Amino acid sequence: EKLDVVVVGSCMTDLVSQTSRLPKAGETIHGHKFFIGFGGKGANQCVQAARLGAKTAMVCKVGKDFFGSSYIQNFKDHSVCTAFVTQTAEAMTGAASIIVNDAGENTIVIVAGANMLLGEEELEKARSALAKAKVLLCQLEISSHISLQALRIARQSNVKTVFNPAPAIPDLHSDFYKESDVFCCNESEAELLTGAHVASVDDAGHAGLELLNRGCAAVIITLGSQGCVVLQASNPNPKHIPTTKVTPVDTTGAGDSFLGALAFYMAQYPSMPLEEMSRRANLVAAVSVQSDGTQTSYPFKKDLATELFLEE
Ligand code: RIB
Ligand code: NA
Repeated sequence: EKLDVVVVGSCMTDLVSQTSRLPKAGETIHGHKFFIGFGGKGANQCVQAARLGAKTAMVCKVGKDFFGSSYIQNFKDHSVCTAFVTQTAEAMTGAASIIVNDAGENTIVIVAGANMLLGEEELEKARSALAKAKVLLCQLEISSHISLQALRIARQSNVKTVFNPAPAIPDLHSDFYKESDVFCCNESEAELLTGAHVASVDDAGHAGLELLNRGCAAVIITLGSQGCVVLQASNPNPKHIPTTKVTPVDTTGAGDSFLGALAFYMAQYPSMPLEEMSRRANLVAAVSVQSDGTQTSYPFKKDLATELFLEE
């Protein structure tokens, strides 16, 4: 049976400390809460798509350790297909040390570990499932040549590709743009990729045009509380999609919630305009920022207004 969304990407164990403010270099400060959660951009996006009702599969590598085994269980709990999830004894499951301040802002250090050992061989095994999917999602927390290879396989099979260049690298291979049906990043990633300052909706429009000209079919730049900007090769006029105002508790992984939701809409509502998909994905992500953690804060279909699941 055809999958809606396949993610070739990362899994991380999130080790989260909440503090009143982010520490300075060399400083020790008291935090007020610590928790462990399931994270990693790839898995986060996959789980959000699954929670909305997409039929999903994850292609990834975790360690042969406690964290890796519990991660596989987490996928099963979400009905994510784990046929292409492998465990290695050569490295630990990826880990992310996250600090969240009272404004809901964060800083993150990731040690990708097992994620970097996901190789061509595992991707080959997933090829036929990937080629039959409706949407492929990739990020940059695994080897970048594996992400690019996955995008190429999908493109050759007319599978819609969504690429999230996160965390961003300044010298991104030019083929990433050409292989992306939707190239979706946040303001700081857009800044790193274009070298231009992105502080406003207008700036995002300019950066988006620059990225679009590198060969993507569409570009989305997410702007946190300001929603996002959407540009399409067929309509390169930057379109601002505002979002509802909410009080943020923890914005970690909000971008992943947006991307998972976007992939869900692309798979299940293929004729919906990209602007409308983005408007709805904004609203899904807005729910996620209102509670702690990444995946734990992602809404299920039943938690959301039925309006979000109507055909336009
Ligand atoms: O995008 C948020 C994610 O980035 C976190 O879950 C953390 O694991 C890092 O990968
Ligand atoms: Na959250």
